[in-house]
Amino acid sequence: MVKISAPGKIHIIGEHSVVYGFPAIISAIAQRTRVKAERAEKIKIKNNLYQKEVVFEIAAATAAAKKSRQLWKEGNEKNDFSCLFSFLRSDFWKRNQAMLGLIFERLKVVKGGVSLIIDSDLPPGVGLGSSASLSVAITKAIAALYVPQIPNQKINEIAFELEKLNHGRPSGGDNSSSTFGGTIWFEKGKVVPVSLPDFLQNLIIVLTARRNLSTGDLVQKVRNLEKNFRGQKIKNIAEATYKMRRALDEKDVNKVKNLINFAQDNLTELGISSPEIDGLVKEVRKIGGAAKISGGGGGTVICFHRDKARLIKLLKKLKVNFEEIKLGAEGVKVES
Ligand code: PMV
Repeated sequence: MVKISAPGKIHIIGEHSVVYGFPAIISAIAQRTRVKAERAEKIKIKNNLYQKEVVFEIAAATAAAKKSRQLWKEGNEKNDFSCLFSFLRSDFWKRNQAMLGLIFERLKVVKGGVSLIIDSDLPPGVGLGSSASLSVAITKAIAALYVPQIPNQKINEIAFELEKLNHGRPSGGDNSSSTFGGTIWFEKGKVVPVSLPDFLQNLIIVLTARRNLSTGDLVQKVRNLEKNFRGQKIKNIAEATYKMRRALDEKDVNKVKNLINFAQDNLTELGISSPEIDGLVKEVRKIGGAAKISGGGGGTVICFHRDKARLIKLLKKLKVNFEEIKLGAEGVKVES
């Protein structure tokens, strides 16, 4: 039996623009996905988050992976992944089947299955990177059982393939954050560690209403905007990301705050905010703080104030669902 865990993440800045090849700054958080795995003849999955379990033949996983890959190729040509997404949503376990088929194939495991038990601190579909941490954790778990010498770089590459099934054409930032942990500057697949000033440990996340759209749908929604309009907003976020890196290096709290707010204004103009989020952002700004969406759309808002106690007081008054977070958590690891 092996036990693996992989962290979720927040986007400090750069979501959406990262999809167009610009950088993002992403930090792994203490909340993790945990997987227990052992060798088995078939594939057995118990997902405690949904309180569901299933057993299927390896052939079903191979078939689902093959079909998904074909649909991904077609989607990539058409610039529209809706057929892939419908196939993967056609029954509860289809996505897991395709993911496992792909992992076995990419790790070149020809004989044997796996029994997996999945637990997670990360709510799905709120922008905390639950899908990427699951992709990373199960890839690492199966590798640990069958090909333990494989480096994390390879785990990350396979998790990226899985994320493509989940989101169409993701940037690869979420899986890289979950694999390598810490805080990263992610640009076109390249990962560089970033150190954060202590004041950013004041960040608090607010969990807002869950999204109606998946990350893939949200990325598509932005892609569908008029090209020049979209291009300008993406460029603004990209420039703010470069400025943020300097502001973090210089530990300039005011610049960090202003850049968070500037990024949020541009994300709102891209149409991925909501009245609930706009209302929260307004209140946090009123007391001199900063707030922005983290990830593809609603679900999680990161809030910052130099005076953490004052921010907590406000969030309590607003009766929102908030959590203190620890940034820069360790990447995927084997638990003892
Ligand atoms: O919503 P999440 O946690 O899946 O984050 C998505 C971030 C995007 O930049 C919108 C997409 C991507 O692939 O990077």
